[in-house]
Amino acid sequence: MLPQDLPAALLKLDTSQLRRQRAVLDTPQGVEIAIAGQNYLSFASNDYLGLANHPELVAALIAGAQRWGVGSGSSHLLSGHFAVQEEAENACAQFVGLPAALLFGSGYAANLAVISSLLGRDDAVFADKLNHASLNDACLLSRATFKRFAHNDLAQLEYLLAHTPAKTRLIAVDTVYSMDGDEAPLVALLALAEKYQAWLYLDDAHGFGVLGAGRGALGEHALHSERVIYMATLGKAAGVSGAFVAASQNVITWLLNKARPYIYTTAQAPALSCAILASLDIIASASPQRAHLQQLIALTQQRLASSHYPCPPSRTPIQPIIVGSEAQTLALAAHLRTQGFWVPAIRPPTVAVGSARLRLSLSAQHQPQQLDALFDCLRQAGNTKS
Ligand SMILES: Cc1ncc(COP(=O)(O)O)c(C=O)c1O
Repeated sequence: MLPQDLPAALLKLDTSQLRRQRAVLDTPQGVEIAIAGQNYLSFASNDYLGLANHPELVAALIAGAQRWGVGSGSSHLLSGHFAVQEEAENACAQFVGLPAALLFGSGYAANLAVISSLLGRDDAVFADKLNHASLNDACLLSRATFKRFAHNDLAQLEYLLAHTPAKTRLIAVDTVYSMDGDEAPLVALLALAEKYQAWLYLDDAHGFGVLGAGRGALGEHALHSERVIYMATLGKAAGVSGAFVAASQNVITWLLNKARPYIYTTAQAPALSCAILASLDIIASASPQRAHLQQLIALTQQRLASSHYPCPPSRTPIQPIIVGSEAQTLALAAHLRTQGFWVPAIRPPTVAVGSARLRLSLSAQHQPQQLDALFDCLRQAGNTKS
């Protein structure tokens, strides 16, 4: 893009309703937020357990800053790796039942790190069409042959695996799809990985803390295999920031040696590991919050089923309201805002053309009456038939 072409390109984003803007929050994350002096009931965060502003995490972070200072001051391999991070890595690995783990500054970086350090030009990666953008970017960065299969289409995946000449193969999936809330068939995917000697890379950004009694997709499906490499983000249900990759000790040692997004970056602030450790404790005992979340999910599914919107089955906190056109989705989100609801409109290229949607994201802090109020408002907008 040349500098002189930018104004026209930005205008095109405007005219096609695709220009993105940030909302500036005046409050901590939570279900009640304030933006530009207005209070909203938010259905917009990935803070599924309501931990982002939890007093115990806040206290752990403050105590961590007092103990470890603020900045890490270096990359992990030079002098930026702290005892508390070592402790957090061990705790994360143990939490998901894998031998070892490595902390990253973000899930995006973790995805780039794993796929680009395990695969190269002669290898092949097989990715679900609805995978998160960070996985797609990771596949491209790896320079491996990049094959995408139709969403959850195991037959197509098997065909691709059976016909690849590549020796090193990796199947990459989201465990919970971030814009639809549905899940990958992990047991069947592992069976294919075993059959075709492929790695199975699981991005559990939206499962960790929620599924499997909080232990995520591995806990939910009891997957045990040396072929599994697991990634969970710590900025969503865990309420902190960053991510970890868990796998065999050999995989972790390889990443530490070869993963450029791990090596060439300043380590996370060590105090964050104090908050991560506190978060793991809370997640382990958050069964009541998860049960409450399940009630909210069931209620949402009921209300969607009696509306004229599609009701794709999702047993996760991500509940899409698929509207279709970008303009209608934006108008609906704007209407909801006037009524005090903050629900993000998601448009292409994040989702497929023609499937623009409101991405309803539930938190254990929501109350059923609040959901009812939201759906009543949608109905009043003339957009539901019930
Ligand atoms: C499925 C998925 N993977 C990876 C990421 C990236 O994680 P992070 O936000 O920690 O960079 C996200 C969201 O941001 C996600 O939804």
